[in-house]
Amino acid sequence: MQIAIINGPNLNLLGLREPEIYGHGTLSDLEALLQEEAGRLHMQLSFFQSNHEGEIVDHIQSLYAHCDGIILNAAAYTHTSIAILDALKAVSIPVVEVHLSDPKQREAFRHQSYIAEVAVKTITGQGFAGYIQALRYFAPAAQ
Ligand code: DQA
Repeated sequence: MQIAIINGPNLNLLGLREPEIYGHGTLSDLEALLQEEAGRLHMQLSFFQSNHEGEIVDHIQSLYAHCDGIILNAAAYTHTSIAILDALKAVSIPVVEVHLSDPKQREAFRHQSYIAEVAVKTITGQGFAGYIQALRYFAPAAQ
């Protein structure tokens, strides 16, 4: 089982960025945590982070026929990017949408998620544990 973890803009600054909202752990901490859990679940992970919408679209396209699931925190692009939504539709890979915080707690213009339109599951407000939950969603039933 091959799972792609994709993190969008400003998530490279985890640990430094508004720690009262996003916590003190860094992106490397998150990736190490996921790698550990993937080992237990016998799953293979790839990691990608970008601050650029087109790079995220390119990366999603490159996953076509190469992975079984996507765990996506599109960050601010969640609320704006029809291009990322279309890329997800195009490759037709199941996607679990994750947010560290609960975006619904934020200002009105950010409430909507384009990703939710295709996501098989959306997990919000659980911090790093939300990514682990997403990984377990894809874990083979026998694990
Ligand atoms: C986020 C929530 C988004 O609203 C925000 O723009 C982010 C991070 C989260 O993980 O809580 O950058 O996706």
